[in-house]
Amino acid sequence: MRKKLVAGNWKMNTSFSEAQKLASEVANMVKDEALLDGTDVVICVPFPYLSTAAALVADSPVKVGAQNCSDKPKGAYTGETSTAMLASMEIPYVIIGHSERREYFNEDNQLLAAKTDIALENGLTPIFCCGESLETREAGNHFDFVCQQLTESLFHLSAEQLGKIVIAYEPIWAIGTGKTASAAQAQEMHEQLRAHLAGKYGAEIADAIPILYGGSVKPGNAKEIFAGKDVDGGLVGGASLDSRGFTDIVKAI
Ligand code: PGA
Repeated sequence: MRKKLVAGNWKMNTSFSEAQKLASEVANMVKDEALLDGTDVVICVPFPYLSTAAALVADSPVKVGAQNCSDKPKGAYTGETSTAMLASMEIPYVIIGHSERREYFNEDNQLLAAKTDIALENGLTPIFCCGESLETREAGNHFDFVCQQLTESLFHLSAEQLGKIVIAYEPIWAIGTGKTASAAQAQEMHEQLRAHLAGKYGAEIADAIPILYGGSVKPGNAKEIFAGKDVDGGLVGGASLDSRGFTDIVKAI
């Protein structure tokens, strides 16, 4: 059975005290490991709050992730955070290639390939994001575009390395817009992506890779979206800033 995962992406939100409250509340609400039935619950918090959040969730099944990382191992790169640093803090997850990083920080598929490599080298699980713009979808090129993102950033990996990755499909037009992809649109893309992975790595490996959906996932639509047979959970932005709403999304899986 494939691993299921619900990850909250707090983005650049919360003060330190708000972050402490939110992390504690999520940890309290997601206490019962048995109820999760193998689903991983992750909160991807801003860098300055990583160690505090990790301490606050330590007695719960909740895990902590970073939202970005450097493609460089170490050295004179002011303001950057390496995956070795994250590993030394025992942070297990890192989001790579979120569309906001691609758009505002010019991250391209080649750079994201390098970030993926170095995250894997340091034992982190990348949550690798992909997704198309509205323009690309309307032009009917969305399947090719998203498959190409995987090809250029992931297809140099060995099968063993690929097996350590989580993919998050996040159509840009659905992020923070309140406009979610329909359950059918999500399932259809996930199926395409899995077939694309299978074409390169074989069905067994492709079948084992969790593919999350992201883009305006809310307590009210999570159940329907997660019902897709190739949808293995969600990457949740706005709704992860409310502990009750986030927990309800976790329950929906
Ligand atoms: P959203 O963000 O849930 O606020 O649409 C999702 C994401 O960007 O990961």
